[in-house]
Amino acid sequence: MQVRSSLAAAVLASAVLLPAAVPVHAAQPTRAPGIEKASDRKDTLRWVAPQDLEIGTAVAGGGHHETQPYPDPFTYDQEYRERLAAEFSSVSPENQLKWEFVHPEQGTYRFAEMDAIVDFAQENKQVVRGHTLFWHSQNPAWLEEGDFTKDELRAILKDHIQTVVGRYAGKIQQWDVANEIFNEDGTLRTTDNIWIRELGPDIIADAFRWAHEADPKATLFFNDYGVEGVNAKSNAYLELIPRLQAQGVPVDGFAIQGHLSTRYGFPGDLQANLQRFDALGLETAITEIDVRMDVAVGTSPTDAQLATQASYYQRALEACVLVEDCNSFTIWGFTDKYSWVPVFFTGEGEATVMWDDFTRKPAYYALQDTLEQASPGRGHR
Ligand code: XIL
Repeated sequence: MQVRSSLAAAVLASAVLLPAAVPVHAAQPTRAPGIEKASDRKDTLRWVAPQDLEIGTAVAGGGHHETQPYPDPFTYDQEYRERLAAEFSSVSPENQLKWEFVHPEQGTYRFAEMDAIVDFAQENKQVVRGHTLFWHSQNPAWLEEGDFTKDELRAILKDHIQTVVGRYAGKIQQWDVANEIFNEDGTLRTTDNIWIRELGPDIIADAFRWAHEADPKATLFFNDYGVEGVNAKSNAYLELIPRLQAQGVPVDGFAIQGHLSTRYGFPGDLQANLQRFDALGLETAITEIDVRMDVAVGTSPTDAQLATQASYYQRALEACVLVEDCNSFTIWGFTDKYSWVPVFFTGEGEATVMWDDFTRKPAYYALQDTLEQASPGRGHR
């Protein structure tokens, strides 16, 4: 792929030097004073990104934010909205399309928040990733605790998928149709996923069929965590997806969430893993990357920790850039101010690319440099 070849050459040339080649900008203070103006368009991620790669973020709202001492970030934080528009060409609702949020009572949909995100994306020429339709988590009590027959459950799922996907037809580019359907050992989640448990594994194919009927142009993905490398779980997707496609099921892609921790090391086989899905003719994507680290309460990360974090972001982005049909790279929030990480991972935090005040960390510059190298001198959006 032409636009990406210079990065390929640079990466190959520096392969053995990778850790040392991390572009931590010595001249950049880790906490730059002041804030960049959103109008400095050319100094943003989306501006330097290759044309065939969307650079995205989750849009903060719902979920853990509801227990935090601030209003829904997307709706009130003007600085946040400016950075969101300026930096990213793709947005994903962090929680606003999950069942418990969008379908809180049976037959009652709550679309206002997602409508606002889609309007914002259209105003700012951003594409949207839909997340998610079929999951074991963040389902409403009326569904999980309801007393439904199999036929009723099937009708509930079909109605939900057709209603939600249909509402945003033509406005959502990629859908995480099914999220986290496998256990770590590569077996299906037959216990905690209500759909698979009650309706059997064939319901997965139906979910994709219904989504495709509701928006034939959207590309439809499986999405999961813990599938960065070659392992039992990613192998399970590698086996499942071609099998579904052979039955005519409209599956277009495989997406890797990418919730990384410096505790566990970088998954060095990420690119090889993406490549084997690419070789099946699938689109691939990184959909939720963040890189958390151990930070004691009341202390700041060391420069070494920030450099390690930057290298993880850089290597993940390089992996995607170097795989031909990895067309979307999304970070799960761009500022520590609203990250889910400290709420969910005790003792870990600082996982995003900007500090609470939106100033940029070394990880931000690592992404910016990597994008710039993938298409030097470009500036297009
Ligand atoms: C997280 C959100 O960031 C939180 O706000 C929410 O409370 C819990 O879910 N995998 C996924 C995402 O697919 O939807 C999750 O998002 C993170 C893990």
